[in-house]
Amino acid sequence: MADNADSKVIWMDGELIPFASANVHVLSHSLHYGSAAFEGIRAYETADGRTAIYRAAEHMDRFQRSVRIFGGSIPYTSAELTAATATLIRANGFKSCYIRPLAYIGHETRGLKLPKEPHIHVAIATWNWGKYLGDAAMQKGIKTCIASFRRPDVSSSLPWAKLSGSYLNSIMARREATLGGYDEAILLDQQGYLAEGSGENIFIVEKGNLVTPTTGAILMGITRDAIFTLAKSHGLSVVEQQITRNRLYEADEVFFTGTAAEITPVTSIDGRAIGTGVPGPVTLRLAKSFEQSTRGELSDFNSWLTYV
Ligand SMILES: Cc1ncc(COP(=O)(O)O)c(C=O)c1O
Repeated sequence: MADNADSKVIWMDGELIPFASANVHVLSHSLHYGSAAFEGIRAYETADGRTAIYRAAEHMDRFQRSVRIFGGSIPYTSAELTAATATLIRANGFKSCYIRPLAYIGHETRGLKLPKEPHIHVAIATWNWGKYLGDAAMQKGIKTCIASFRRPDVSSSLPWAKLSGSYLNSIMARREATLGGYDEAILLDQQGYLAEGSGENIFIVEKGNLVTPTTGAILMGITRDAIFTLAKSHGLSVVEQQITRNRLYEADEVFFTGTAAEITPVTSIDGRAIGTGVPGPVTLRLAKSFEQSTRGELSDFNSWLTYV
């Protein structure tokens, strides 16, 4: 199937709907105000040819928490959502795919005042999505810039939740980077410390040790969490700290983590080469382990896989 190929059916409120009919009303509350939550998950073809959803429980639990934080609740358990996703992947015949659960408020609700228990609709879509930051990213690394758009402050945003409205900030930062000829944006927090990419967490490597921003302004990424565990299995230390721009420029290696971006080496920031200007050994070692964990080749981490 071609990259970006759509699926035959989409799961909507418990039913499999043909792709072309999977529509919502133009007056849907979420469309007007961004009052929706979503997830990004991947399923991978494993070494034995079966398909497995990567860290399904963690993603579905974050999905539930994202909706709860704005005052709704998803009318399905995480286990039910995972089972629905497995059914959907089988119905669409994917071996590997990207999975997009979306919880949204329909046209029953108008205006900003939400009812005490807003009716939450749920859809799950799958599509074929190759390398989010380009096929050459793993060989060459990507070019980034520090965006003028900053990650919003915790006093006026909910950074741990994947809320649709919050993503306009990421879209603007990414757009700024793309228009400037870069592959991706890096956002600082409101105090000027490193936060994350527009849709990725970020790590720096200093003298063989990993350092990543503290959890204040960032999305608590599930791939970030996987890297913590995989790094420890390699005997590498991981520290969460406030990171200055100075340290970022001077790091030996920099890489992004995320469900869409997986592990992506960053080899240039604001026109400056990072380290030797090519993906570094620590990044490549962790990227290999990450890939092996998605393929069921690391028995210690097979509990991260849900076979469909
Ligand atoms: C803003 C942002 N940060 C970080 C991430 C990485 O999170 P995860 O590894 O859970 O996909 C994502 C992607 O979901 C994101 O959108």
